[in-house]
Amino acid sequence: MKKPVIAIDGYSSTGKSSISKIIADKLGLIHMDTGALYRGVTWYALQHCLNENGQIDLHQLFSSFDKINLEFKNNDGTLILYLNNNDISKEIRTNSVSDNVSLVAKQKEVRDFLLQSQRSLAEKGGVIMDGRDIGTVVLPNADYKFFLTASIDERTNRRFLELKGLGIEADKGQVKQNLIDRDKIDSEREIAPLKQADDAIIIDNSELTKERTIELILSHIQKI
Ligand code: C5P
Repeated sequence: MKKPVIAIDGYSSTGKSSISKIIADKLGLIHMDTGALYRGVTWYALQHCLNENGQIDLHQLFSSFDKINLEFKNNDGTLILYLNNNDISKEIRTNSVSDNVSLVAKQKEVRDFLLQSQRSLAEKGGVIMDGRDIGTVVLPNADYKFFLTASIDERTNRRFLELKGLGIEADKGQVKQNLIDRDKIDSEREIAPLKQADDAIIIDNSELTKERTIELILSHIQKI
């Protein structure tokens, strides 16, 4: 039997990736955190495509796609993102990447560059993919679609703790502002905006533990 394709979209720091990873382990699926890909391109741009004002030169970035090789490698069940054979899993979580990623991700050229690798991973089934436009654009025919949301304060706390766990210094006010800014740019962009697919199940997990959110998702998958 073909394994399912599951799309998990939603706002920043609703736990999409950590929840998807646990579900992938439970159901024997491959997990792809698509946000990491946009973060990887942004990291590359910050290293190689800055103009004299220290801002990302988008045209230089667009002409550099052939120099960007992003790959997930499996390290004891955890997928690590490599850029041109260098582990960048920590770099992509830094504040400078978070501050720039939504401006990079709203570019059509960048979205087109990353679309095919996301789609081809799902061709054989057995995938859980999380992001912003998975149920609407990347995998509109996914077998199951979920859309996660939570209050801004809860999401701020989660991101703050995640950064602390990674040893990255963070200020709570700045973390909150970054989430608000990214959600606004992500929701209002013209191409593939962050929005719930018509056929997605919405889960507000402001007051739910990660375990409870996972149970809810699994109960829907078993029901359908
Ligand atoms: O999921 P994460 O917070 O790491 O995503 C970082 C950013 O990447 C998002 O704020 C959004 O701008 C972009 N993104 C996207 N489409 C996706 C996944 C992420 O535009 N499918």
